[in-house]
Amino acid sequence: MRGRFVTFEGGEGVGKSTQVGRLARRLAARGYEVVATREPGGSPKAERIRASLLEGRAKQFGPLAEAVLFSAARADHVDHLIRPALARGAFVLSDRFADSTRAYQGALGSLDEAVVRALERIVVAETRPDLTLILDAPVETSLTRAAQRRTERGEAADRFEAERSEFHETLRQAFLDIAARDPQRCAVVNAADDPDLVEASVWRVVLERLPPMLLGRPDVASGVHGR
Ligand code: TYD
Repeated sequence: MRGRFVTFEGGEGVGKSTQVGRLARRLAARGYEVVATREPGGSPKAERIRASLLEGRAKQFGPLAEAVLFSAARADHVDHLIRPALARGAFVLSDRFADSTRAYQGALGSLDEAVVRALERIVVAETRPDLTLILDAPVETSLTRAAQRRTERGEAADRFEAERSEFHETLRQAFLDIAARDPQRCAVVNAADDPDLVEASVWRVVLERLPPMLLGRPDVASGVHGR
């Protein structure tokens, strides 16, 4: 049976990576193979493209060049990590995926939607997420968190986090619009809450939206967790 593909999306500092880790632990404790990954990156070649993207080297060439580079990284990630894992029946959890190109290069960069869709058709094709969790929080909350995280790690702001707060408002709205346009696939989760509450909301959505797989295993259905 094909596995399940779950993506986490949202602006900067909404807690995506924390929640990917928490959902991964919950699923692994129930006996599933879980592959937790991220974009840009996730495979060795894509990680190399990530480094130049986050240093802002592609920015000078405009949103089309950026979208093409994010897509090149995504193509490798999909081919070498995501598709093989889904074919094995694993749960793949990705911190960002194609909706980030829609929001950042599409909505923010004003890249033509038809171009973004065409790139998705080529790169993502049938490997669309089964579920996308849009983590949503007021811009002030997420900016404070992102700044705290950088200070803890002794890092400087990267090229995306250095943008203005208006940028973050537009970004937040872009992700909400994506969710509104595709409610079958997307669920908006309030990420302003305490991480434990966000984790519980994410779990509730997963149980609601992906029941065939979760109930498909007798050990899970009977409440016996783990192998
Ligand atoms: P990262 O350090 O992973 O940030 P975050 O913790 O917010 O995910 O940086 C990824 C950056 O790349 C982030 O600012 C969003 C941006 N991005 C795009 O612009 N387009 C894309 O397609 C993807 C996947 C990411």
